[in-house]
Amino acid sequence: MLLKRLVFFGGKGGVGKSTLSCGVALRLSKIDKTILLSVDPAHSLSGILGVPVGSHIKHVKERLFAVELDARVLVEEYAQRVLSALGELLPSVSSGIREYARYLKSSPTAQETAALDRLLDYCQEFTYVVVDSAPTGQMLRFFETAHMVEGWYGFLHKVAKERHKVESFMGREDKLIGFIQNRKERLETLLHVLREKALVFAVANEEPLSLQEAKEIREKLRDMKVYTVINRWHSMECDCIKVPETERPYGLEALEGFRVEEIVEFVLR
Ligand SMILES: Nc1ncnc2c1ncn2[C@@H]1O[C@H](COP(=O)(O)OP(=O)(O)OP(=O)(O)O)[C@@H](O)[C@H]1O
Ligand SMILES: [Mg+2]
Repeated sequence: MLLKRLVFFGGKGGVGKSTLSCGVALRLSKIDKTILLSVDPAHSLSGILGVPVGSHIKHVKERLFAVELDARVLVEEYAQRVLSALGELLPSVSSGIREYARYLKSSPTAQETAALDRLLDYCQEFTYVVVDSAPTGQMLRFFETAHMVEGWYGFLHKVAKERHKVESFMGREDKLIGFIQNRKERLETLLHVLREKALVFAVANEEPLSLQEAKEIREKLRDMKVYTVINRWHSMECDCIKVPETERPYGLEALEGFRVEEIVEFVLR
């Protein structure tokens, strides 16, 4: 795995998560191969970078790549990849799996599950992965989903092991166990990455509600490395990372001068 750091920006709506993501990704890309990834359904990377970014990886410049995940397409592909494979392995229940796929597509955590799966691919291909998320709730759900899916695969693995015993006893080949094991291992790798290599920057402005939300992020993600960033900083005294108010922080050229060096220092530590 190439990944050195996986960086998340969270916080209240409008505090500057996307702008900081772009600025930090641009700086990191001077050092090594970096992908800037938006999981916010209301994407804004294209506008901030001043370069069209879509649901396929876009080479922005030098070692900087960007992608705005399209949740619907992502879930569709995930359902195809995982469920059609399951259907092939278990033809006897394939109609049930098709039914399940229909539910999955409209289930509340389907997007997070599919996005997490894609995130792991990027962690394998890039040195730095920077994630721009939607306001607080979505980011927290992202982490919760990872743990929930882990429980689910743990259960599936037990079932598959039982089935495997029966199949071997009958002298039949069993591909299901390998498949489940592979999915389970992918998820374990991802959870390991989240524990060991992820940093969360809880972004706020000098404004009480956003500060409160940043505090909630710190409290809810106690087992992760979380740092508070005051963006558009003017004068507030605090023991946190400060990014000053900047005129027009958008467009690649202007972002080069965006004062995110303190954040980058934490990422490189
Ligand atoms: N340091 C800064 N100085 C001046 N303006 C800034 C700064 N950071 C962000 N902005 C401006 O604040 C606005 C909101 O920024 P941005 O879109 O990055 O926030 P966000 O947290 O991603 O919002 P959302 O929750 O809607 O995704 C934008 O107009 C952006 O240009
Ligand atoms: Mg945003």
